[in-house]
Amino acid sequence: MTGPDAIPMEIDRIRLRIFHETKDMTVRERVERVNRIGSDAARLYGFKRIKRAGGAPRLDPLPEPPGSQVPGTVTCRRLSAADLEPDMLLPFDRRQDVPEIWRKREGQWSLEANSRMDDWDETRKRQIVQEVFARIFATGGALYGAYDGGRLAGFAGHYGDPQGSAGQYLQLVQLQVSREHRRRGIGRQLLGMAADSARGQGALALFISAHPSKETQAFYRAAGCVDAAEILDNLTQPGDVPLELPLGNL
Ligand SMILES: CC(C)(COP(=O)(O)OP(=O)(O)OC[C@H]1O[C@@H](n2cnc3c(N)ncnc32)[C@H](O)[C@@H]1OP(=O)(O)O)[C@@H](O)C(=O)NCCC(=O)NCCS
Repeated sequence: MTGPDAIPMEIDRIRLRIFHETKDMTVRERVERVNRIGSDAARLYGFKRIKRAGGAPRLDPLPEPPGSQVPGTVTCRRLSAADLEPDMLLPFDRRQDVPEIWRKREGQWSLEANSRMDDWDETRKRQIVQEVFARIFATGGALYGAYDGGRLAGFAGHYGDPQGSAGQYLQLVQLQVSREHRRRGIGRQLLGMAADSARGQGALALFISAHPSKETQAFYRAAGCVDAAEILDNLTQPGDVPLELPLGNL
């Protein structure tokens, strides 16, 4: 079966696979994880999963297809190498208050107080365009931008060279939303577009070296990300949390 009718079946297939893969967890953990994946997968396929007391969840089409318009004035689109300009990130406001971070000590994750404001200077902004964005295109990956009129409000990409022991990962790089545009669904939209692209290239999951701040972690977990099954030290920034977003490719 193909087309929209196949989507609920595909989502059930993903949930069933996750359920089988989590045999070592408690039943409650397994159900929570399966439900999280179910909602995330539904959203990526353009549906909202509505829980119903005593019955199977219902799938309602999302009002907007994934990969187009974020509510409001922001539009997301795929960028090409021709869109790159050395100074394109200079007006971008990367500032992020980081009052609490997740840190692993003796095998246990916990939140720790932190007094840090993360930001990029001009050199770093130019370096991201010249090195990270350029590498995305050089490896056959994909880069997406969110635009508020002519202004860059966010971006996210993935490299195109497979990673992990079985080549199961593509690496998500530089998911950023400008300070004044956060919490409007732009990050979710950009992550969904990068996930769609990586899935289309056959990856099983996006590997994410995720910023350890409480807010960033909350974002990724809400999007269905889980602890990376394989920790790739060479792709994980010091202090970051290695996560993955399963993509449903079997
Ligand atoms: C992390 C980041 C990309 C999220 O983008 P965003 O556009 O602000 O996030 P969204 O509006 O799409 O949020 C989607 C969901 O994530 C969760 N979430 C997002 N920001 C959150 C926060 N500050 N606190 C708690 N949950 C949060 C919520 O569940 C939210 O859904 P809701 O708003 O309906 O409750 C953005 O905050 C950012 O650029 N932060 C600084 C840079 C960074 O950490 N980048 C990631 C590097 S690995």
